[in-house]
Amino acid sequence: MQQEELFKELVSHCKEYGFIYPSSEIYDGLGGIYDYGPMGAELKSNIREYWWKAMVQLHENIVGIDSAIFMHPKIWKASGHVDAFNDPLIDNKDSKKRYRADQLIEGEIDRLEAKIEKEVEKARKRFENFDEALFRSTNPRVLEWAKRAEDISKRLANAMKANDMAAVKALIDELEIADPESGSRNWTEVRQFNLMFSTQLSNIAGEEGKLYLRPETAQGIFVNFLNVLKTSRQKVPFGIAQVGKAFRNEIVARQFIFRMREFEQMEMQFFVRPGTEMEWYEYWKARRMAWHQAVTPAAKLRFKDHDNLAHYANAAVDVQYEFPFGFKELEGIHSRTDFDLGSHQALSGRKLQYFDPETNEHYVPYVVETSVGLDRMFLAILSTGYTEETVPDAQGEDSSRVVLRIPPALAPVKCAVLPLVRNKEELVGKAREIFDRLKFHFMCQYDEKDAIGRRYRRQDAVGTPYCITIDFQTLQDDTVTIRERDSMQQERIPVARVVDIVREKTDMVRLLERL
Ligand code: GAP
Repeated sequence: MQQEELFKELVSHCKEYGFIYPSSEIYDGLGGIYDYGPMGAELKSNIREYWWKAMVQLHENIVGIDSAIFMHPKIWKASGHVDAFNDPLIDNKDSKKRYRADQLIEGEIDRLEAKIEKEVEKARKRFENFDEALFRSTNPRVLEWAKRAEDISKRLANAMKANDMAAVKALIDELEIADPESGSRNWTEVRQFNLMFSTQLSNIAGEEGKLYLRPETAQGIFVNFLNVLKTSRQKVPFGIAQVGKAFRNEIVARQFIFRMREFEQMEMQFFVRPGTEMEWYEYWKARRMAWHQAVTPAAKLRFKDHDNLAHYANAAVDVQYEFPFGFKELEGIHSRTDFDLGSHQALSGRKLQYFDPETNEHYVPYVVETSVGLDRMFLAILSTGYTEETVPDAQGEDSSRVVLRIPPALAPVKCAVLPLVRNKEELVGKAREIFDRLKFHFMCQYDEKDAIGRRYRRQDAVGTPYCITIDFQTLQDDTVTIRERDSMQQERIPVARVVDIVREKTDMVRLLERL
């Protein structure tokens, strides 16, 4: 199945099985906003827990906080968001549609890269003992497209860095980019659009009372640097972590939960002695990649250095994941220098410094940041896990299934308890008894409706790693069958061992031990 089709199936699967709903659906939805359903809320909470434990619990020198969404408006002035948190916007005069100018240009780069991949695939089928590296470095067409893509990418990066919107527009004209929906090339000029949402305090009128919904959680960490330093007995190097909502008035919110206007970030700011930031930057690159690889195949992940550094960074890299619509940013790792603490120190007039007992000096620490989108991580986990497959030796509606092969520790439901039939009181009673015991240990579901095959399919579709079936033999010898989601293999085990077996296979400890 084509990736595009697969993605559509995944989106409708998310709705059908209670992972994600469009927000405000009974009022026809609200663009770029989504709600998480019962399964989605569980999966999201498990990913959040995996991140929190990996960062805070496993590191003695990282502590967590939970700062407010609303903060003093000067924070956003100091951080640069009021002046520089912009995206280049362009309108099509005929279709009246609004686009991000840089994304239109990036679309051209993607198109060239897709052409290269197609050419490589064609050659792979044509030649035996195909040498991909040699082909990529010698085929004239591939080389020409790669050079064009690189030239466009460099020109875009330079124009954005220089804040030169006329140069961005010139690139759109030169590449003859048309409105993807209407085909029209009748464009306005490109102008910068600030992405922060604002609201108003009730007791202060005018600009003074203007508040912003935070566009990143990081600033809540920076402005609490001194508080945490004084109250947590940490010494540089140390980190502060937090998970929370962020809001961005994205010009084009698209690709489902990939780019939303309200989303959740899991961010950690690591405060280090100036001059050591590159060592820590490399350290956190490796640590974060290990975290991803424990739940995602390595082939679907890659690093991509930033062509265009943000105003606060002296080094930056993305961890990209191969979404069904291509390799895209999943996490950003940034060496933010002393930009944020320095700016807050200057604007607030408070000293945001650290006295280093080893060097006997005061300094504003440098910061290495790791920032991953919880929603993007959710989409990555589902995209890797979503599988449509035929079932060998099965008949009728049982001959195919959709299975979410997600890591058991992240699965919304760890174990389903199923009496073989529901019209036998003893079976139902025994199943209920087992369910009532298991529910203290992990998220379980009890299900007695429909034939057993259908119930297995329902659990496969939400990624439940284990199904426990209570049958007539259970009543005789106190054993049950345990069915594993991916292999569909069944085994008989004593009822007394169910908790230990399911826990052993689904415990997050197993994931954390791999880091
Ligand atoms: N504090 C740094 C920062 O906010 P960012 O690269 O703008 O950096 C970090 O955002 C992460 O937040 C991204 O890698 C992405 O996973 C997530 N993210 C950013 N914008 C998003 C959006 N509109 N919708 C969903 N996730 C988003």
